Amino acid sequence: MALHSILKMGEPGLLARAEPVTAFNTPELELLVADLWETMHSRSGAGLAAPQIGVPLQVVVFGTGMLNPRYPEAEIVPPTVLINPTVTPMGATMEDGWEGCLSVPGLRGLVPRYAQVRYQGFDQHGDSIARTVDGFHARLVQHECDHLWGFLYPMRMKDMAQFGFVDTLFPQIADAETDID
Ligand code: NI
Repeated sequence: MALHSILKMGEPGLLARAEPVTAFNTPELELLVADLWETMHSRSGAGLAAPQIGVPLQVVVFGTGMLNPRYPEAEIVPPTVLINPTVTPMGATMEDGWEGCLSVPGLRGLVPRYAQVRYQGFDQHGDSIARTVDGFHARLVQHECDHLWGFLYPMRMKDMAQFGFVDTLFPQIADAETDID
């Protein structure tokens, strides 16, 4: 396993559509998943997408644990490996929420996301995953899967007046607390 550096906004790879995984249960895929988990945990993220470490494949990992100090209020999202995903809105309701991104360091923005989504895909063994989720879980999966389609959260914002530096917007909290990945 290895820690990877995280690409920052401006890298063309963050704006590209990632390719589907075509072979499951391979040592290469296991290594990629392990590296994503290790890198995510090292940055106290709630998720990470393969393009953020320079790998143009449709692989994301996400999840929050009870002990994550950055999300004391957030619901628990089970640790999930999601490959070749589809994300389908369940209804038209959208909710605004503050997001940060390790690829957009130091900034936060208010981002509208679908309140409820159904996501489908596969884990690294090729077993299918299908869940209907809402709340932070829904926001997290939309943020992560957007990395696979070449979208960063500022591209989803509707009001650029609600975009700024975290230490200015939220001087009372630590820098990392509202990063998603
Ligand atoms: Ni992100």
